[in-house]
Amino acid sequence: MNSETVVHVASGKVREIFELDDERLLLVASDRISTFDVVLPTEITDKGRVLTGLSAFWFARTREIVPNHLLGVRPDGRSTEARRLRMLPIECVVRGYLAGSGWKDYERTGSTSGHPLPAGLEDSARLPEPIFTPATKAQVGHDENIDRDQAAELVGPERLEEVERVAIELYSHGADHAAARGIILADTKFEFGLDADDRLVLGDEALTPDSSRFWPADEYSPGRTQTSFDKQYVRDYCESLGWNKTAPGPELPADVVEGTRARYVEAFERLTEVSFDDYLDDPSSVLR
Ligand SMILES: Nc1ncnc2c1ncn2[C@@H]1O[C@H](COP(=O)(O)OP(=O)(O)O)[C@@H](O)[C@H]1O
Ligand SMILES: [Mg+2]
Repeated sequence: MNSETVVHVASGKVREIFELDDERLLLVASDRISTFDVVLPTEITDKGRVLTGLSAFWFARTREIVPNHLLGVRPDGRSTEARRLRMLPIECVVRGYLAGSGWKDYERTGSTSGHPLPAGLEDSARLPEPIFTPATKAQVGHDENIDRDQAAELVGPERLEEVERVAIELYSHGADHAAARGIILADTKFEFGLDADDRLVLGDEALTPDSSRFWPADEYSPGRTQTSFDKQYVRDYCESLGWNKTAPGPELPADVVEGTRARYVEAFERLTEVSFDDYLDDPSSVLR
């Protein structure tokens, strides 16, 4: 008999969140996948394990930069025991390259989230240095980029300075590590919270394909939208159907699922240098 009582407290797009006690949560990453912001009816086998293992890998390696919520990974490889935090109401996005809403903003205004940038940058251009572009956490629909004043109003000016400094340091660490392994970390999103002593703690997932744009470095070519390291098969397949990118999304055929799983596993193995089979045998292998 399992003597543990777990209470389901929330469902995210990807995770189921349970309460272990007042101080601890269990975050269970599903195999759900979204593209163009729509969750598809077909799951990608083991995707939740890839996200959980990769996050744990980064948590173990970035403690010097900032403390994080990781307490342990369960033997299933997809469940994270985490310190329960009071999450800050902003998404902490760092961009090293111009893509997505950062590129759209630049095209329209010549700057991104109020950061003045050199003229004449192309789609997917590398930025002179990484920039911090916070967003609101939308309950439904797209997150919205906000400027420094709006972010300061939400978390306070001093906390904002702290999260900006820490988020850029985390991004730079991840981007250097990934670049040395053939993956461009174009941008990424962190979520921070506060512990009982009001200390800043990194929560959620970190530096995964779901929270970041990963591009294969050998296919990088600015001036166009880049190939996604992980979601390209899914995107190409969805485009080939002429799907209108609103819910419900299409079912994925087995070869697209298999190809996508292989890309997630490849990202995991390249970045962690741990074989995915070893991780499945023993999730703590990414913590060493
Ligand atoms: N340590 C933590 N304490 C409290 N809440 C957390 C912690 N880590 C992550 N969360 C929250 O848990 C949820 C994770 O589930 P997810 O499926 O990723 O949600 P979303 O659809 O918002 O991306 C997010 O709302 C995130 O802010
Ligand atoms: Mg999330």
